[in-house]
Amino acid sequence: MLPLFLLLFPLSQTVLAQLSRPDPPFIPQDPEEGAKPSDGSSIPNAQWTNLLGSGLYFYEAQRSGVLPDDNRVGWRNDSVTDDGEDVGTDLSGGYFDAGDYIKATFPLSFTLMSICWGGIDFGEGYNMANQTPYLDSTLRWGLDWLMKAHPSDNTLYVLVSDPHKDDDYWGGDQDIPTPRHSYPINESSPGTDVAAAAAAAFAACSYLYNTDRISFGSPYGEPASLRDTNYAETLLSHAESLYTFANTADKALYHESVPEIADSYASSGYEDELTIAALWLALATNSSERYQEAEDMYTERHLGEQYLDRLLNWDSKGPAIPVLFAQVASLWERDATRWKEDAERYLNRIVDGEGDTYWMTPAGLLYYEGESDYDSINPALNAAMLFARYAPMASSDEVRDKFEEFADSQLTYVLGRNPMSVPYVVGANPNSPSNPHSAPASGGSSIDNINEGETAYTLFGGVIGGPDRHDNYYDIRNDWPQTEIALDYTAPLLTLAAMHVISDSSDPYYTRLAAGEYDKVRPEGTPCDPAYPCDSGNPPLPKGAQIAIGVVVSVVGVVIFGGIAWYGWLLRRSSVGK
Ligand SMILES: *[C@@H]1O[C@H](CO)[C@@H](O)[C@H](O)[C@H]1NC(C)=O
Ligand SMILES: *[C@@H]1O[C@H](CO)[C@@H](O)[C@H](O)[C@H]1NC(C)=O
Ligand SMILES: *[C@@H]1O[C@H](CO)[C@@H](O)[C@H](O)[C@H]1NC(C)=O
Repeated sequence: MLPLFLLLFPLSQTVLAQLSRPDPPFIPQDPEEGAKPSDGSSIPNAQWTNLLGSGLYFYEAQRSGVLPDDNRVGWRNDSVTDDGEDVGTDLSGGYFDAGDYIKATFPLSFTLMSICWGGIDFGEGYNMANQTPYLDSTLRWGLDWLMKAHPSDNTLYVLVSDPHKDDDYWGGDQDIPTPRHSYPINESSPGTDVAAAAAAAFAACSYLYNTDRISFGSPYGEPASLRDTNYAETLLSHAESLYTFANTADKALYHESVPEIADSYASSGYEDELTIAALWLALATNSSERYQEAEDMYTERHLGEQYLDRLLNWDSKGPAIPVLFAQVASLWERDATRWKEDAERYLNRIVDGEGDTYWMTPAGLLYYEGESDYDSINPALNAAMLFARYAPMASSDEVRDKFEEFADSQLTYVLGRNPMSVPYVVGANPNSPSNPHSAPASGGSSIDNINEGETAYTLFGGVIGGPDRHDNYYDIRNDWPQTEIALDYTAPLLTLAAMHVISDSSDPYYTRLAAGEYDKVRPEGTPCDPAYPCDSGNPPLPKGAQIAIGVVVSVVGVVIFGGIAWYGWLLRRSSVGK
């Protein structure tokens, strides 16, 4: 049966390969152009299309492995092409997660799921901006690697890095320390969260690539024009296999099986991943059974309450679940009341300031206690994405307006309406961050001189960690909580930019910021954050000490919060800064 099936399959399906890219290729505009307001009269607005294109360009700059001929990022080279050699599996390719050279499956999976969801809801924005071919190659570069990382049903590689030297290596992509080590989860070393997270990414993206998929209805438009039935089927088979693995193996947090990843990407639970994987699979396979599994898990584990005041990010997907449920239930003409109630309760509490785990900074950035100290923009931008996505389904026009306004307030802050006059996106405007914490972009060659020298290459589209709780931003390369870039940081910007491409003729905020405005308000001294402890004037701690502090803080946090499941936030990227 199988050989026959394989023989007939290509003939019986519409075969569409990767979309070909525009010629000449899209290249992000000079930052100076980001300070030139348009007359604001046309859709698509050229500044928003440039921002969307820059976000996709960022992912191209983060590529690992052998780069293809159409690579647009001239300053990147082939790198670590032997990844996986230690385990006899080809694990070359994929993306470097952040400012160094680690490849990590858990945050990558969230990033891919997030981008594909945006491609379903606001995909017309990619089409209108002529960016769909770049969306296609961005997704495939990640998904193709994720398939390599899943070479058999019950094996998933979750980390590729050099366990000993990465922390001290600050240099280009040609001299990345080797040998690198590949860490799997499997039946004897399981990881429910990461297996389910990868399943969710595969299922969401399968739906986006599926020729038969339909939009969530008005006012969402058509998904991005990525249609490839074979690819969708392949993604789906990985999704099913990983979902089964997650459910049949012993339940475990993956960093218990792979302690090497605990400092950077520890997980705080797996119910959210299992639930959202089941829900995406329900949508991708039109399965009531999977929908019921997701609903049962949500109910039994009280996810609505568990995630009520938590943030949305790579580790914490709970807040997205009622929103996706509301979309699927509406599409299937089921009763969506419960999901809308849960989604609105969560979102209303944020706007009305009712949660006790977050507040607004003086200038109006949504700030989560603890979590935002490690990266303030990401939780706010993920929230903005959720507000913007849910708003069309709101129970009244008043609620819809309120949610849209909130989404807008956060995005506008990120794009430059803040006391620093800094758009927290590299290359968007002359006031954009000039010292992103990215080893390849910096051009530097020594961790000891990390702050020296002008940044060699502009990492267009990279969203950085962001300002502190007082809205202060210091633009110091070694200050990784503020200046590091990461795959998951830019993901919600893509979705929000695509939405603005569709419907917004006015420019992103930063076009009104002239060069040099940041220099007028640049804060004195040094920051007060996990990389630069508060009492200093002192030079920053060496990295080993930073990591040690991260771990100590985490342990204290666990004690203080008495084993409450959300202690994971303190572990957040405590060593990624590196
Ligand atoms: C890529 O290689 C070129 C030529 O050797 C080098 O100048 C450049 O810095 C390299 N890029 C990175 C990110 O190391
Ligand atoms: C799971 O992975 C670990 C670490 O590589 C290995 O020691 C173990 O043998 C693997 N177990 C199975 C069932 O493959
Ligand atoms: C999905 O399943 C339902 C029955 O549960 C069926 O009525 C509907 O036509 C199916 N939709 C698609 C797109 O296959």
